[in-house]
Amino acid sequence: MKVCITGALGHIGSAFIRHLNIKHLEKVYLVDNFLTQRYVSLFDLPEGIPFSFHEIDILSEDMETIIKDSDVVIHLAAVTNAEASFHNADMVEEVNKKGVERIAQLCAKYQAKLMFPSSTSVYGVQEGLVDENCSDADLKPQSPYADSKLHGEKFLQSLKESDGLNYVVYRLGTIFGYSIGMRFHTAVNKFIWQSCAREPITVWRTAWEQKRPYCDLMDCVDALNYTINEDVFDGEIYNILTTNLTVKDIVETIQKYVPDLEVKYVDSPIMNQLSYNISTEKSLARGFSYHGNLDHSIKECINKLKRMNA
Ligand SMILES: NC(=O)c1ccc[n+]([C@@H]2O[C@H](COP(=O)([O-])OP(=O)(O)OC[C@H]3O[C@@H](n4cnc5c(N)ncnc54)[C@H](O)[C@@H]3O)[C@@H](O)[C@H]2O)c1
Repeated sequence: MKVCITGALGHIGSAFIRHLNIKHLEKVYLVDNFLTQRYVSLFDLPEGIPFSFHEIDILSEDMETIIKDSDVVIHLAAVTNAEASFHNADMVEEVNKKGVERIAQLCAKYQAKLMFPSSTSVYGVQEGLVDENCSDADLKPQSPYADSKLHGEKFLQSLKESDGLNYVVYRLGTIFGYSIGMRFHTAVNKFIWQSCAREPITVWRTAWEQKRPYCDLMDCVDALNYTINEDVFDGEIYNILTTNLTVKDIVETIQKYVPDLEVKYVDSPIMNQLSYNISTEKSLARGFSYHGNLDHSIKECINKLKRMNA
């Protein structure tokens, strides 16, 4: 089995490449252009895995040789900050939209199977319990980032019909949990960082009691291993998440370890008034399982940062 992982040095990729659990691994291509400067993600990689690192852009011509030699592509490379995507919409268009189109076209051409991580942010403005059957008309992405994910989903579906692409889409909840390449722009991780930096935790004014989907990093890693081992490239969309939580749930858990934290309310272009839960029924029925634990992950991250303000 030859696997190509794009964006391999990021928050998810740097954990995945340390917890690969795939039968008969012949080669693991790691592709990253250092957009986010995660050189550290290459430190101390596990022994005995045939890694091959390539510092290249996913839009470069070099991708063709790599995908031609790959059985599976895990396409993690993207511009990933949803809030910032209002200011760098051109880059999101180039990397996220043109990027997934190019990767998918190469996968179709060379019959490599593709895993595309979309996001539960494609659901946008919803209320109540939401599942993958939500109609297209009800998907209301609230940022250029979320819009690029929905574009990717639709492009893959059309390439399956026209060129027989084998793929699967995961709508991932917001990832929480430590990895060496982790970033701190999403809810749980950002709050941990702020509390350890002795800064006020900045909460969107409307968000305190709203439910949103979150995914433990190790549940995401398990899902990626499962995808390859169980050949889950069935052209379907699956919600992948550990739990639905309010910001209040998250802040109260952090407070167990940083009791004197301060909360400050702020505005954001992507906040809205509605509360929703995302269903995992479809992914559970397909054999995925979720074991993540918010308390454990928060404790682990805070422990890693505990000496920055002794
Ligand atoms: N982290 C989350 O909460 C979350 C939630 C839903 C979906 N996702 C999706 O999962 C994927 C991985 O997320 P992450 O949190 O690990 O992101 P990340 O930002 O931590 O990592 C992305 C990696 O991609 C690389 N990259 C960016 N543009 C590139 C390009 N043009 N060519 C090559 N490499 C490039 C970056 O250098 C970085 O190492 C992304 O597609 C993201 O949209 C993440």
